Amino acid sequence: MSLIARNITAGYGQIRVLNGVNLEVAPGQIHCVFGPNGSGKSTLLKVCAGMLRPWGGSLELDEQNLLGLKGHQFIRSGIVTVPQSGGVFPELSVAENLMAGGLALSDNAAVRESIQAMYRRFPILGEKRNARGGSLSGGQRMLLAFARALVSEPKVLLLDEPSAGLAPLVVKEVFGLIKDLRAQGPAILLIEQAVRDALPLADQVTVLAQGEVQFQGQAQGLSEAKLVEAYLGVKM
Ligand SMILES: Nc1ncnc2c1ncn2[C@@H]1O[C@H](COP(=O)(O)OP(=O)(O)OP(=O)(O)O)[C@@H](O)[C@H]1O
Ligand SMILES: [Mg+2]
Repeated sequence: MSLIARNITAGYGQIRVLNGVNLEVAPGQIHCVFGPNGSGKSTLLKVCAGMLRPWGGSLELDEQNLLGLKGHQFIRSGIVTVPQSGGVFPELSVAENLMAGGLALSDNAAVRESIQAMYRRFPILGEKRNARGGSLSGGQRMLLAFARALVSEPKVLLLDEPSAGLAPLVVKEVFGLIKDLRAQGPAILLIEQAVRDALPLADQVTVLAQGEVQFQGQAQGLSEAKLVEAYLGVKM
């Protein structure tokens, strides 16, 4: 299912952050959003996730209007987020964190089966199911954050800088996982600052600067140096 945002304006209090942003995330594709700190990437993700109501514009999932729905209804519609830094609950166990991923769903048996599937897919989480989230390494926490998101079998996955703060080897693993996920068919919105790691995965690219789209198009044929120099203003 495609998530389509049109002409989104949004902000906090009186401060406008997004100004007329259009974005389409299609099934089986990764749409990467790049942009410097404070350019509005997370704000855009929060709008797509139903965590922040936009001031104007429209948001649809396969022609279903999403604006006006509550946060848990977004999750039931199949739109699930891995927030910046993962958002694992440090005081809860791995198992409890995974159960939190199924809270918005009504079919408890399906949630339990889904969690077992996560233990099979990511054995380290099964081994550590009783450990506190806060005791995991950075990489394991990100894995748990992904697994928690996958418990509800999302149609749209919103990822906010999943590589931030992770060691280079772990970043490779996380991007490998994202690539595997794409093959399973969800639409993936990937917010990143690590252009070098993320660009090879991207099908579509959007560059945000000061809340406006500076560039939008196919990733194919885009070189990292061109993208960074032209749109992010930093020479490699
Ligand atoms: N809850 C909030 N209340 C007020 N202002 C906010 C809030 N969240 C973000 N902002 C402001 O909105 C602007 C855009 O923030 P946003 O978090 O969307 O940027 P970003 O591109 O995700 O940055 P980063 O790369 O640092 O994560 C910034 O100026 C920020 O200070
Ligand atoms: Mg952010």
